[in-house]
This record gives sequence, structure tokens and C-alpha cells, in this order.
Amino acid sequence: MDIHSYARPDRVRVRHLELSLDVRFDRRILEGTAAVHVERLDGNELILDTRDLAIHSVDNAASFELGTADSILGAPLRIQLVPGADWVRIHYSTSPRASGLQWLEPPQTAGKRHPFVYTQSQAIHARSWIPVQDTPGVRLTFAADIRVPGGLRAVMGAGRSNGRFRMDHPIPSYLISLAAGDLEFRDLGPRSGVWAEPPLLAMAAEEFADTEAMMRAVEALYGPYRWGCYDLLVLPPSFPFGGMENPCLTFTTPTVLAGDRSLVSLVAHELAHSWSGNLVTNATWSDFWLNEGFTVYVERRVLEALYGPARAEMEAVLGRRELDREMESLPEKDTVLHLDLKDRDPDDGCTLVPYEKGALLLRTIEQSAGRAGFDAFLRAYFDHFAFQSITTADFLEYLRRELPTNVPVEDWIFKPGVPPGAAEPHSDAFERVESAWPSADAAWSTHEWLHFLRSQPDSPDMERLEREFHFTESRNSEILHQWLLMAVEHGYQPAYPRMEEFLASVGRRKFLKDIYTELMKTEAGRELAGKIYKRARPGYHPIAQATLDAIVNPPAAS
Ligand code: BES
Ligand code: ZN
Repeated sequence: MDIHSYARPDRVRVRHLELSLDVRFDRRILEGTAAVHVERLDGNELILDTRDLAIHSVDNAASFELGTADSILGAPLRIQLVPGADWVRIHYSTSPRASGLQWLEPPQTAGKRHPFVYTQSQAIHARSWIPVQDTPGVRLTFAADIRVPGGLRAVMGAGRSNGRFRMDHPIPSYLISLAAGDLEFRDLGPRSGVWAEPPLLAMAAEEFADTEAMMRAVEALYGPYRWGCYDLLVLPPSFPFGGMENPCLTFTTPTVLAGDRSLVSLVAHELAHSWSGNLVTNATWSDFWLNEGFTVYVERRVLEALYGPARAEMEAVLGRRELDREMESLPEKDTVLHLDLKDRDPDDGCTLVPYEKGALLLRTIEQSAGRAGFDAFLRAYFDHFAFQSITTADFLEYLRRELPTNVPVEDWIFKPGVPPGAAEPHSDAFERVESAWPSADAAWSTHEWLHFLRSQPDSPDMERLEREFHFTESRNSEILHQWLLMAVEHGYQPAYPRMEEFLASVGRRKFLKDIYTELMKTEAGRELAGKIYKRARPGYHPIAQATLDAIVNPPAAS
């Protein structure tokens, strides 16, 4: 049972969905029908999840009732099936405030001439744009007809045939995705390509040129890519995440376009989810580490295969350090891998713990079992559980059977912090970074610069750092984010105009959360944060707004 869904798939289970939707930019809604095909196991009641949906009617049902809404879960849609019937069709429309949709005005796009809309279904936002059993424990196939105004293009994380979108592999609802805007496509390889607004397309194709090589690297390790094509979609800057692994179509932030491919670990990460996450899926959000920990582990193996162990180790050390830094500010109960999310929004479980502690556990098992043995184990794991949703207990049972280990895996999963005996990453390059001040034209990688900044003393010489390296002008979003964070922490005013501009133009939650949190630590910072947030909030995604509202406490009016 999934505590974040009203569905009872043990009684009536959704197997297939047929969507037919109009994208109404004029009213900021999606409107149309969802035909839901079910398997009947016990009784006549089909329960779907919804949030802020207007249900107009339900075809082929004896009756239906929309329950009262819970602030986290939304409202259950209870449908009494006609005896023997195995489908219903729901006529509905979304709310302009749907938590899983962001509607953008032309000025918020790269081209500035056309509106844009996109979905973000993970973790429990699919229910805000489709009535569905919104639990990762239920997998469904789907087909969709999407109508958009002339001149615009709709894309979905799915295949396409005869003008319809089709997903013929069963996927969890959090992986259903849609975007529409002024989009163009360019090939990257025989089975990969990139969608972007025209002004960004050439740059995106350059940045993502290694995609096919990455696909071959994962396939060599863990078996065939099973989703046909792999495309990337570059979203407008308000996209609240770095990336989202929608099957066949990874969604990315434009802040990954650094111009030098230095941030492509994000592509490796989202691609890795085609195995860890999309093929083998966490059954509940408490098992989220099965998705993200495995994915970070696979991501680093891809980086190692393409760019060498030194690069992979740098990323591992950065991740290890950030994990420790974040754990300092987390309650102990949020530093376990199997999370307790009772009465909480699963978006709150999204800390570095499932990512970096999860990856560190796998690295530790790898070290203990030997690489060859662990590679064989993981490859068999993906085959064994392909197209299934599994719990932490399923993983533990499989591990015990297939790869007995001395690593105290239960301690890692159920106890706080990092247990002794972890396989600690190490970077020689970072040791050199720590030992001497660089020359202004040092040919360092993004990772070395990040480590350099994060290794500064408690009272860094901000003037000298700026004078010699001009971080305020950096066009690398990760370096700029790190620098602006330090600027706020140390009250370095010359970087403030850039910081305000960054907060007003970028909607990536990770960046915003850090900087606003730092601002809120002083009286003057709180005032500034309030002022900036008031102006910037309307441009942020509802998911980022929800996180930031809790940090900045905006006036009730906004
Ligand atoms: N699936 C996640 C994004 C996500 C997690 C969305 C939880 C909603 C709820 C995606 O694969 C991810 O982890 N993105 C990271 C980037 C990655 C390189 C670590 C992000 O967005 O920061
Ligand atoms: Zn991920």
C-alpha cells in the first residue's frame, strides 16, 4: 500500500489510459477526456487520484463521486463500475493552478514570441492533470491525442505513430509527461535527438553530443536500452529541476547548457534512470532511494566509461561532501534511506540522502563484492525486475539471495547517517586544488572550481576571488550558484545585483532553495529575500513556489 494514493489497485487496477486533450493557453487549462481501462479483481469500485480537477461527467459508469480534498493528497474520485464493464471515460478539465503544470507567457521563453506549457508529474502531481491511480506501484500503458494552437508543437515522453503518442511499455503515472511550445528537433544520433526552442537548438545539440556514446556505455554494463528512442527536451529556465527522466524524453533545465559539456553528468543521470527508475521502479516514495541512489551510482559509471575515473571521482567527492553538509541540517530521521513520509508531501523527501547515501551504499557493496561480481549482480537485477515496481524489502531479499555481503546493508537503509566502512571516494586532482592557489588562467574543470570554492576558509577573501577569477560573471550555472551562495553568506555586496538577476530568471529549485535559505539568516537578508521573492514568485513553478513559500513566508496576498 502507498500512503500517497487513494487508489485500491488490489480491487480494481488501471492498466491502460487513452487521453484526448486540448491545450488551452487562453484559459491555462487542459481539457478533454481520459478513458481508463481496468483489470477487475474485487468489487465494482474504481478509485482514482485527482487534485484540483473539474470532473464534468463519466461515461460507462453506474455513478461517480469526488471526495473531499486533502492538502497533500488531493481528492479521491470514486467510480462505481457497471457490472462487467472494464472501462470508463472521464470528461474533465484541469485548474489554472494545477501543481503539475506550468503555463508560461512568451516573455518567459527563449524565443519570447509564443506561450509554453509543460508537465512535471513526479512525485504526486500527475493527478493534477490526469485522473489516474497516482502511485508508482501501478503501471499502465497509454495513448494520447493532444491538440495545440497552430504553429505550436506538442511532445510527450512516449513513442509516436500515426499522429498519436503511444507508450506500449507499462510505466508508473509519475513518468507521464507533456510539453507544448515553439519546439524544433535535431538528431543527435541514430536513436537520440534534442527538442528545444529554435534559439537554443544548436547550442543544445552541441552540449548533448555525447548522448549516443552514453547510451552505449550503459548498455555495455547493464543490458539493452528498452525504450526505443532517447530524446532530450530543453525547457524554459523556470523548470524547477535539473532534469526529469520522462521515458523517451528527458526534460532538462537550460542551465545545463554551459557551452563546454561540463554539466552533462545530468544527461548521464537522467539516461541512467532508463534502467534504475523507469525499468525498475520504486513502489512507494519511501523507496525513492532505489530510484535515485542506483541512478547516481550508474551515472558515475557512465562518466567513468566516457571521461575516465578522475572525472567520475571528482563528482563522487563533490557528492560525498555535499551529503555531509546537508545531513548536518537534517533531522536524524531524514538521514535514513527508507524514509518515513507519513503526513508529508513526498517532495519533502527529496534531499541528497537518497541520492548520495544511496549511491555510496552501492559503491560500498561494489567494493566488498568486487566490480565484476557487482556488475553481474546489477545487470541481473535490472533484468529480473524489468517493468516492475519494487520495495526496499524486495531489493533486500534479492541481494541476500544473489550477492551475500558483509556490508551492514540494513544499517545503511534503516539507521541514520553514514555507517562506518563506507567506500570513500578520493580525487588526486582535488588534493592539488587544496594545496595551492590557482593562477587566473588555470585550466581547471568546473568540478575543480567548485571544489576550490567549497574549500575556502570560513572567512574567504571574496574581493580577491572576484578580482582574480570574476566569478560574478560566470556563465556556468553551478559555479555561479556556489559563488552567489558564498556572496550571501559573507555579505559580499558587489555580487548582489547578479544574485537578484539569477533569482529572478532561474527557477531551478535546488539553486533557489539554497540562496533564499542563506538570505533568511540575517535581518537585512530577510528583507531583501522578501522583496525579490515577491517579484520573482509568479515566474516560479508551483512546485518551487511550495518549497519557497515555506522558506520565505510571503504575504498572504501573493
Ligand atoms: N527524478 C529526479 C527529479 C525529481 C525528484 C523530481 C523528485 C521530482 C521529485 C531527477 O532524476 C533528478 O534527480 N534530477 C536532479 C538532477 C540530477 C543530476 C541529480 C535535479 O533535478 O537536481
Ligand atoms: Zn534522478
